[in-house]
Formats: sequence, C-alpha cells, structure tokens
Amino acid sequence: MTTSTGSLAGLHCLITGAASGIGAAIATAFAQAGATLALADLDADRLEHTATDLIGMRHALDLTAPDAVQALIDTEIEHAGRIDVLVNCAGILTEMPLVDMDLATWQRMIDVDLTSVFLTCRAVVPHMLHAGGGRIINIASQLGQKGGSGLTHYSAAKAGVIGFTKALAREVSARGVLVNAIAPGPITTPLIDGLSSDWKQAKEAELPLGRFGLPEEVAPTAVLLASDPGGNLYTGQTLGPNSGDVMV
Ligand SMILES: NC(=O)c1ccc[n+]([C@@H]2O[C@H](COP(=O)([O-])OP(=O)(O)OC[C@H]3O[C@@H](n4cnc5c(N)ncnc54)[C@H](O)[C@@H]3O)[C@@H](O)[C@H]2O)c1
Repeated sequence: MTTSTGSLAGLHCLITGAASGIGAAIATAFAQAGATLALADLDADRLEHTATDLIGMRHALDLTAPDAVQALIDTEIEHAGRIDVLVNCAGILTEMPLVDMDLATWQRMIDVDLTSVFLTCRAVVPHMLHAGGGRIINIASQLGQKGGSGLTHYSAAKAGVIGFTKALAREVSARGVLVNAIAPGPITTPLIDGLSSDWKQAKEAELPLGRFGLPEEVAPTAVLLASDPGGNLYTGQTLGPNSGDVMV
C-alpha cells in the first residue's frame, strides 16, 4: 500500500521485468516505501495480472527494441515529468553447453540481459542529468561474478552488466546519478524453472546458507540503494544477496 511517509516517498520509479519474480517484489516493496511506479515487461497479460493492487502505468514492450524503449521513456517523462529511479530487472535464462550453442541463442541472451540495460540507461540518463540526480539499479547475477556451467551466455551478459554499471557510475556519479548493481544468488522464481534439477541440486549443495532465496529477500536491497540517506554512498557497487555463493 502506498504511503507518503516511506523511505521512497515522492520518488517516481520505473521497474522493468515487473510482471514476475524479483521485479514484481521490488515493485511491491517500492510501493510500500511510498514510491509511485511505472512497470514494464514483455508479458502484457502477466503484467496486467501481477500485483493488481499496485498503482502505476503498465507498459508492455520488448526491451531489446530501441524505438520501443525510447517511446517508453518519452511516455513516462510526459506522464510523470521525471524518472527518479530506474530498476533494470528484465531477464531470461537458458542452460546449454557452449559446444551446442547457436549464435541466435547467444545473441538473444546478450540482447535481453545486457543490451536492454544499455538501451534503458541511454534513454533515461539525460533526464536524470537534467534533473540533477537519480538512481539506477541493474539486476545482475552472482553468475556474472563466478560463472556457471552451461551458462556461458548468461554469465557473460551478467558480467557485462556489472562492468557497464561501474563504467556508467564513473561517468555520471559526480552529477548526482548513482549507478549500482545487485547480483542475487539463486532465487525461487519462474526464471529458474528452465534449469535442470541436477544443476539446481548441485547449486543448493554448494551454498553456505544451504538454500535458494525468495524475491522478497532481494527487494529490500533495491529499496536501500534507491533511498536517501541509505543509498547515498553507494555507486559503482555490486551488492550480493546471494546465500553466500560469492564472498567479496
Ligand atoms: N531467479 C534467480 O535465480 C536470479 C538470480 C540472479 C539474477 N536474476 C536476475 O533477476 C532478474 C529477474 O529475474 P526473475 O528471477 O525475477 O525472473 P522472472 O522470469 O520471474 O522475471 C523476468 C521478467 O523479465 C521479463 N522479460 C524477459 N524478456 C523481456 C524482454 N525482452 N522485454 C521485457 N521484459 C522481458 C519476463 O517477461 C519476466 O516477467 C533477471 O535479470 C535475472 O537474470 C535472477
């Protein structure tokens, strides 16, 4: 329920991948913290029916399409006047050995999990710079830090998100735009339905906490990064709600 006194009160936040999993949990947590929302996802039906109590514009689009992304940002700026926080959470995951991977599979992963982040940031950053500040939170993965067998494309895309986040933070932080990544460990969402049970069992066994996380256990990290003063000193960082899978 939206309040006017939460840690994100008065902020207008655009969340991609908001129809499911971690994105939907971040949307709910942001609304509870008092933010106003714009929600974007490829899946129009699920976007309409997920978290129906959340108030905010819902945009169905493929975030790999440059013109559609620009139209999304233009519409939001026209409608809300500003975007204070951008959360890039849309993503896909498939499992495949490198030797079996065709170029189209590789390219789609890079397009959805990395290029979409470039496209949204490129469209939003000029508005944040003009406004004198903003927050960008990119959802990477701990597999972008340590790699995952059968996941060369996913690991490369997520490592790319972490590098992109650091570079953009160096470019725009001095002008008030703070850019960070969150690299969750395995989280129980529809995304990991496509992973083999062997992969999941092996991963669970190597986690120091011995269990996968829940989307609701990732969302508070995004609230922290978006909030003032909680997020004020973070930029170029990668925060890890990951069950101990990566320790830095
Ligand atoms: N679940 C995990 O174990 C885990 C771990 C680390 C990182 N992540 C990352 O967290 C993010 C959210 O994942 P999740 O687990 O909530 O998955 P999810 O499948 O529940 O949600 C992902 C959402 O992204 C949307 N999406 C996919 N392609 C899109 C496109 N081209 N344009 C617009 N929207 C698109 C989907 O429709 C879906 O609603 C992803 O970036 C994922 O890589 C997930």
